[in-house]
Amino acid sequence: MANENTLLPILIVPDPLLRKVCRPVTAEDMKRVKTLIPQMFATMYKAPGIGLAAPQVGALLRLVVMDLAPEKIPNPIVLINPEIIAQSDEKATREEGCLSLPDQYADVTRPAWVKVRYQDEDGHKHEIEGDGLLSACLQHEIDHLNGVLFVDYLSSLKRNMLLRKLAKEQKERKGR
Ligand code: NI
Repeated sequence: MANENTLLPILIVPDPLLRKVCRPVTAEDMKRVKTLIPQMFATMYKAPGIGLAAPQVGALLRLVVMDLAPEKIPNPIVLINPEIIAQSDEKATREEGCLSLPDQYADVTRPAWVKVRYQDEDGHKHEIEGDGLLSACLQHEIDHLNGVLFVDYLSSLKRNMLLRKLAKEQKERKGR
């Protein structure tokens, strides 16, 4: 039976659901969202990963879970209907990966700092801001809600190389 520790299958590129624009979470969605949140955390921690967006588990809702350092100081964050409300002109480049593109990594350049407004499970509004890993993770996860993947920031040459490598590795995995 499904419970809060139920692991959800993570969709892998090129699953078309990863390219959809997700709709905002409404009050009517909260029952489903409250079931989904612990399952998304369980799935993310098991992977392991530091962020997971609802479309990655096939739920086309504007919902993200994050925990940047689960092994050091667990700090689970739930972001409902997150939106970037401010960002720096200064850019920063970090290596990114994604649970929907397993074992693929590339340098991505994004605004160095962002401020994000979001709601919690009780509908209260909050803001979170930061640079470094937090900034990159917030932007990466919010991109998922718009059907955008980190490979979209790469040159087409780099992107195609990475996607071909992923396809090959996924085929080999299935063949085993
Ligand atoms: Ni991702």
